[in-house]
Amino acid sequence: MRTQVAIIGAGPAGLLLSHLLARGGVSSVVLETRSEEYVGARIRAGILEHSSVELLTSVGLGSRLRSLGEQHRGIHLQWPGSRHHVDFTSLTGRSVWVYGQTEVQKDLVAARSADGQEIHYSVSGVVIGDDFVKFTDSSGSVRQLDCDVIAGCDGSFGPSRHAIPSPQVYEKVYPYSWLGILADVAPSTDELIYAWHPNGFALHSMRSATVSRLYLQVPAGTDPSSWSDDRIWDELAARLGHGQNGWKLTPGPITDKSVLPMRSHVQTPMRHRNLFLAGDAAHIVPPTGAKGLNLAIADVALLSRALIARIVSGDTTLADSYSDDALRRVWRCTHFSWWMTTMMHASGDPFDAQLQLSQLRWVATSEAGATGLAENYAGLPIGF
Ligand code: FAD
Ligand code: DHB
Repeated sequence: MRTQVAIIGAGPAGLLLSHLLARGGVSSVVLETRSEEYVGARIRAGILEHSSVELLTSVGLGSRLRSLGEQHRGIHLQWPGSRHHVDFTSLTGRSVWVYGQTEVQKDLVAARSADGQEIHYSVSGVVIGDDFVKFTDSSGSVRQLDCDVIAGCDGSFGPSRHAIPSPQVYEKVYPYSWLGILADVAPSTDELIYAWHPNGFALHSMRSATVSRLYLQVPAGTDPSSWSDDRIWDELAARLGHGQNGWKLTPGPITDKSVLPMRSHVQTPMRHRNLFLAGDAAHIVPPTGAKGLNLAIADVALLSRALIARIVSGDTTLADSYSDDALRRVWRCTHFSWWMTTMMHASGDPFDAQLQLSQLRWVATSEAGATGLAENYAGLPIGF
C-alpha cells in the first residue's frame, strides 16, 4: 500500500487532517486501533472556539454545527454570593459554540467518506518507520503502508510521541480530577457557569436543549461509583449556588458518569524527520477552559498547510517551522488552562483561596481583566 500521508489515529486531529489534505490534493490513509463505533461514542469536549468554528465552516463542516450547535456570547463566573457574566462578544467581538466532540467526529467521518480516503479501524501492532508504517489489520494480516510523511495524531497513549528521539517533556500533575456527568435534563443556565466554591470547583455545561453536562472537582483517584446520583446533584446544587438570587439547579436522570484526571503535558519538538505530531499526541491540558480539542484543530490547520506546501509544491518552509509555529499556541493554551485551573479549584490552603477570590473579583469586574480571559477563552486566531 502507498499513500502520501500516513495518519495514525482517527480522533478529531487525524480525521480533520485527512479532510484538509484531501482538499489540498494530498492523499492519506488513517489507521486507528479502536472500532468506528467506539471512537464515535466517546464523550469528551463540548466547546468550540471562534477560530475552530471558522475553520470547520470554511472547509464544509459547518452546517450541522450551525444548526445543532449553540452560539454563546460568554460565560458566567461565580463564587458564593456573586455571579458575573463575562461577555466575550462585547469584549473581543468573538464567541464560542457548544457542540459536542461526538458531533464533530460524526461530521468528520461523513466528510472522509465523501473524500474517498481510506481508513482502517481496529488495527494493532502499529510500528512507525521513517517512510512507512507497519500494522496488523482487522482481519489479522500484517501490512506495510509506504508514505512520504507520517502524522502522529494518536493521542497521549499512542506510539507516535515515543518515536521522537530525546524529547523535552514538561509536565504538571494536579492533585484533583473532575467527576463528569451527562444528564437528560434541560440546562438550568443559558451559558456555562464556572463556579469557585470552598468545597471545590463546579461547572455547568450542556450539550443541547435537553442534555446537560456537569462537572465537580473531586480528589485525584476518585472512583466514580463512590458518588451516588443524589450526592452528585446535592453537591452540584451547593457549589453552583442553588437558591442564590432565586436561581435553581434542576436535577435529572444521569446517563453517564466518569472521572477525568488532570495534567498539563507538553512534549517538544513536535517533529522528527518525516514524523509530525498533532493534538494530544504532543500536549495535554487540564480541561478547565476547554482547550484540548481546539488545540488539536489549530495544530492540524497549521500542519495541513505545511504538508500540502511540502508535498504539492516542494516548499519545506512551513514544514520546517511547524513545531515552533504550533508550540507558540500550545504554550499560550497551556498557560491559560493552568491559570483557569489554579484560579478555580480549591487547594485546601486559605491563603490560596483569598488570592483566587481576589483574582476572580478582578477578572469579573475589571474590563482589562475580563478581556484577557475573553480573548484566551474565545481563542486567538490560528497562527497567532
Ligand atoms: P484523540 O481524540 O485522543 O484521538 C487519538 C486517536 O488515536 C484515538 O482514537 C486512539 O484510539 C488512536 N490511537 C491510539 N493509539 C493508536 C495506535 N497505536 N494506532 C492507531 N491509532 C491509535 N477537552 C476539552 O477541551 N474539554 C473536555 O471536556 C474534554 N474532556 C475529555 C475527556 C476525556 C476522557 C479525554 C480523554 C479527553 C478530554 N478532552 C477534553 C480532551 C479532548 O477530547 C482532546 O484534546 C481531543 O480529543 C484531542 O484530539 P486528538 O485527535 O489529538 O486525540
Ligand atoms: C466542557 C468542558 C470543559 O472543559 C469546559 O471548560 C467547558 C465545557 C464540556 O464538556 O461541555
